[in-house]
Amino acid sequence: MAEALRVGIAGLGTVGASVARVLRDKGAELTRQCGREIVVTAVSARDRTRDRGVDLSGTQWFDDPIELAEKADIDVFIELIGGDEGAARACVRAALDAGRHVVTANKALLAKHGVALAEVAEKKGVLLNYEAAVAGGIPVIKTMREAMAGNTVTRVFGILNGTCNYILTRMEAEGLTFEACLADAQRLGYAEADPTFDIEGNDTAHKLAILTSLAFGSKIAADDIYLEGISNITQADIRAAAELGYRIKLLGVAQRTESGIEQRVHPTMVPTASVIAQVHGVTNAVAIETDILGELLLSGPGAGGNATASAVVGDIADIAKSRPGFQHGPVFGRPAKELKPYKKAQMRSHAGGYFIRLTVHDRIGVFAAIAKRMADNDISLESIVQHANGTEGGIAQKTVILVTHETTEAAVRKAVDGVTKDGHLTDKPQVIRIERAG
Ligand SMILES: NC(=O)c1ccc[n+]([C@@H]2O[C@H](COP(=O)([O-])OP(=O)(O)OC[C@H]3O[C@@H](n4cnc5c(N)ncnc54)[C@H](OP(=O)(O)O)[C@@H]3O)[C@@H](O)[C@H]2O)c1
Repeated sequence: MAEALRVGIAGLGTVGASVARVLRDKGAELTRQCGREIVVTAVSARDRTRDRGVDLSGTQWFDDPIELAEKADIDVFIELIGGDEGAARACVRAALDAGRHVVTANKALLAKHGVALAEVAEKKGVLLNYEAAVAGGIPVIKTMREAMAGNTVTRVFGILNGTCNYILTRMEAEGLTFEACLADAQRLGYAEADPTFDIEGNDTAHKLAILTSLAFGSKIAADDIYLEGISNITQADIRAAAELGYRIKLLGVAQRTESGIEQRVHPTMVPTASVIAQVHGVTNAVAIETDILGELLLSGPGAGGNATASAVVGDIADIAKSRPGFQHGPVFGRPAKELKPYKKAQMRSHAGGYFIRLTVHDRIGVFAAIAKRMADNDISLESIVQHANGTEGGIAQKTVILVTHETTEAAVRKAVDGVTKDGHLTDKPQVIRIERAG
């Protein structure tokens, strides 16, 4: 049997401790599958005394993960610390410089420094594997990097944040407010104490940036992503969506258009009958649309210790199975030097259907004024629904819901600005993009 593969794990939190546990509990099975043993020889975390729920006897402890990356007796360095700078970035770079294979689950690091790190890995002839960084346990990186050769991707989109999907699912199923669902998500450990990063879409954007690069061969450009979170979604939107045959999901979407690549994260209406609309709770899903394959949808657990560890262990097993001296495939599906500069499509030129919810004075002429603003901007309407809301503070109000045929973002913004200027609104207008989904 070949020599054992020696692994060092930096970070023993939710994911790191699970990885150590899976490698120990499934050791015999992994040895059979890989033809060699996988042994954890070194670990690092901040607190040496904390019980990690896994037997770490026989492993060398490093207080400094950079020292582990450079000096430990290892073949593979596993980074499970997190963060786009600091210790995580420094130790990944040190491991690559030292010619060690690296496995990481760190989307923030890859979204910011992925291309530079890929260049080092490719120069050194080592692997930089990151399956767990996007959609946790779903094998989407392998699928895009290895199983879709020859396909030209036209669009990739997905539900990439379990916290947001959990909140939206419960809002719809139980008629609860955003705030109540967020509080439950925090109580159940699905959301961080500071949930901003999840609910404002930043976490989805990091994952989308990586998918965009794999899909279109462009350099990662996380800072160029259009971002809108879910905190302003109300029961009125959820109910109106259901009435019109849609469900609201926070989607990350990357799409090739005539003017460049669109990257956007925002609440999105998808047809209730579409496959992605059936993805509930903390589950994630990624849809990949290509010229040869059509639309492929992968769905499954996107976070949590075990699901994420499954992807990390899969990456380690790939390294254990790789033949010595074998030239490894490029990190982002094509050599890092050949990744093209990202050509950004302006959000104003985004084309699609729109849901527009307006709360207006219930008086004569308002509806005609709204219709005129839409017509002036060449927006054709697929449906119009009106409800009287009754009287609030002595003001009679109604809700007007418009669903447009395909139009542009610029036209919708101009029309809604016009309606606002006309002085008919009694509340902020709500605009939600509609995404085509099979
Ligand atoms: N949790 C998930 O479901 C999930 C899913 C997909 C991807 N990920 C990614 O996986 C990575 C790890 O996430 P996690 O949830 O496991 O985080 P976590 O529970 O906060 O664990 C972080 C670990 O890093 C250690 N650490 C922090 N700073 C360190 C330093 N300077 N030197 C050495 N060790 C240090 C901590 O040590 P102490 O324990 O001693 O404090 C802890 O063990 C992140 O990149 C995250 O984005 C997580």
